[in-house]
Amino acid sequence: MVNIVVTGAASGIGAATLDRLRTSGHDAIGVDLAGTDITADLASIEGRQDAVAAVLDSTSGLVHGVVCCAGLGPLSSHSGGKLVAVNYFGAVNFLDGLRPALARAGQAYAVAISSSSTSTQPGIPEKLVAACLAGDESAAVALGDTVGAIPAYPASKLALAHWVRRSAVTADWIGAGIRLNAIAPGMIDTPMTSGPDLDPGLAKALDFYPVPLGRRGRPDEIAALIEFLTGDTASLLCGSVLFADGGTDALLRQTDWPSIWEPTPEDLTRHFAG
Ligand SMILES: NC(=O)c1ccc[n+]([C@@H]2O[C@H](COP(=O)([O-])OP(=O)(O)OC[C@H]3O[C@@H](n4cnc5c(N)ncnc54)[C@H](O)[C@@H]3O)[C@@H](O)[C@H]2O)c1
Repeated sequence: MVNIVVTGAASGIGAATLDRLRTSGHDAIGVDLAGTDITADLASIEGRQDAVAAVLDSTSGLVHGVVCCAGLGPLSSHSGGKLVAVNYFGAVNFLDGLRPALARAGQAYAVAISSSSTSTQPGIPEKLVAACLAGDESAAVALGDTVGAIPAYPASKLALAHWVRRSAVTADWIGAGIRLNAIAPGMIDTPMTSGPDLDPGLAKALDFYPVPLGRRGRPDEIAALIEFLTGDTASLLCGSVLFADGGTDALLRQTDWPSIWEPTPEDLTRHFAG
């Protein structure tokens, strides 16, 4: 039996993922504020601890996959701090909490949902990204409240992508047989981008969001990529951030990535010395 946990499973990308994994025969468990198997609030440390405990309880401590979809969008009704708490710390603490259970599986995988806003939204507050990566939740939440939800959103998602790349290559993750990767979706048609709570200004901006493919993505298209990342066909992927955005990132950032590596002598010693 393969146990896979999906957060944010009551709506949008998470719901499509839970559905797809179950249809493929996995024993998938949903976590969300309401409307799925485990009820938990990933905005708080206690809520994350309760969620981890409930998952361990229902899987006998053996987890093969974790997919972190839970997130808040950049609505002015959300405080920037709450958004940082859910989008960054809610994902990272949940993944860290379940890491020993993933390691017990021998071969396991974890997927975090970042965002293409990380590379297409100008003016991301670097100090907020740094506070997240430093693990300082109270400082990051305070900074998130100061900058507001719209800049806090891509900052939380950039920090998450960097955390994935930094962690994935370590002994704790790939060294323990756990492949950790991220997906950076572009504009996907879910309640986050088309719900009644969406600010009129943001809704208008999203209508002009450039997508070379010519349409928004569907949740099931991201779910398909998540299923790929949670299977053996993705066995070589570790620390990747996969953009699934209909071409937006390629359109706006054509020569920014891949970029030329200029290693310092310390880099060479650290990574290439036998
Ligand atoms: N829709 C897009 O265009 C888009 C683009 C890039 C990235 N994303 C990311 O994809 C993920 C899924 O988004 P979606 O579009 O499916 O949105 P959605 O609003 O449909 O689903 C998000 C889910 O997260 C849950 N959630 C929110 N706060 C929570 C909390 N404190 N504790 C537990 N669960 C909580 C919600 O209840 C909801 O079910 C999010 O992380 C989002 O940032 C979405």
